[in-house]
Amino acid sequence: MILVTGGAGFIGSNFVLDWIASTDEPVVNLDVLSYSGNLRNLASLQRNARHVFVHGDIRDRPLLDRLLADHQPRAIVHLAAESHVDRSIHGPGAFLHTNVEGSFVLLEAARAHWSGLAAGRRESFRFLHVSTDEVFGSLEPEAPAFTETHAYDPSSPYAASKAASDHLARAWHRTYDLPVVTSNCSNNYGPYHFPEKLIPLTIVNALAGEALPVYGDGLQIRDWLHVGDHCRALRAVLERGRVGETYNIGGGNELANIDTVRRVCALLDELQPDPAGPYERLIRLVADRPGHDRRYAIDTRKIERELGWRPTETFETGLRKTVQWYLAHADWVREVQSGSYRDWVAQNYATRTPGPA
Ligand code: NAD
Ligand code: TYD
Repeated sequence: MILVTGGAGFIGSNFVLDWIASTDEPVVNLDVLSYSGNLRNLASLQRNARHVFVHGDIRDRPLLDRLLADHQPRAIVHLAAESHVDRSIHGPGAFLHTNVEGSFVLLEAARAHWSGLAAGRRESFRFLHVSTDEVFGSLEPEAPAFTETHAYDPSSPYAASKAASDHLARAWHRTYDLPVVTSNCSNNYGPYHFPEKLIPLTIVNALAGEALPVYGDGLQIRDWLHVGDHCRALRAVLERGRVGETYNIGGGNELANIDTVRRVCALLDELQPDPAGPYERLIRLVADRPGHDRRYAIDTRKIERELGWRPTETFETGLRKTVQWYLAHADWVREVQSGSYRDWVAQNYATRTPGPA
């Protein structure tokens, strides 16, 4: 049995589905079902006895103690977080509450549980802390990609809160010997991605004939990884990662945002052409994100060398599958575009006056 936190979110639900499909081991999935958590992502597991969903908050220590005592997981995979940079700019408080305080409460509960285990189970127990490349801050155009020892220099409240949680997780290893392994991953994309993030937002806006907002000059670079490859990497880190170590995970697909948006448009032109013309006509450069990091790039040599992991999807294959998934799941998109989603879109884009693409 493993305990996953945030398993109803984008990466979490992909991880849980992948785990159930590729192992025999049950999962307890603890998720508070915030705006980005969605049980529909897990609908195929409704009658699967190996998936136990628990609706709750990682800050609820008595609940954590009960779950750990009842299910005796051999590992915790910690994904629960507030995850959207723009939301962190509008309201940083929730990021400190979940990402920092929540991670602290979870680490303390894990430590109490782990200290009480018998010797063999104590040694094999793992706490996998799932983090982001955004903790490293921005790279210059020609600078080498982030290695695991790159200095932390977070720019956004989101990145700062994740950096804080990374430090806590590592400190709990150094100080208390808690068997923590950390992973820092680049931008994911794929199915069940909440359409506030660049790729799904572009797909759903294009299909609705709405503007495709690109921040600033659109030349900020992100390294895209298909979520399925991230899930495989997390399984590898959990099974074979060395305790106390960090593994950087990335797709080796560095692309400027404007090019990412154009690639999505080209796929949509092919798969669901709009009689009104190519989707690129909808691209608009809008006001930039404050503190916007210019470039992220990940050096994946450590995870390749130590754990034999490599991405299986290219950006071409992964993006095509993703666009096809959104085209086939219009009902999922409709459901997540609730009132609160619309409120968010209105709040985030209202003050971003569009300019020419
Ligand atoms: P997401 O926002 O889609 O999902 C987060 C999940 O956590 C949601 O289901 C939400 O309900 C749950 N949650 C939030 N607060 C909680 C709380 N207090 N208690 C319990 N559950 C809570 O995010 P995601 O994109 O799936 O990211 C998952 C993790 O991976 C995060 O830790 C994020 O920092 C990290 N990460 C994301 C990316 C990316 O590109 N999306 C890249 C690298 C790392
Ligand atoms: P996003 O998907 O929010 O992920 P992150 O901020 O975690 O990297 O954004 C990816 C990139 O796309 C980032 O450089 C910001 C940019 N972006 C836009 O240009 N327009 C948008 O509407 C959004 C949401 C993001």
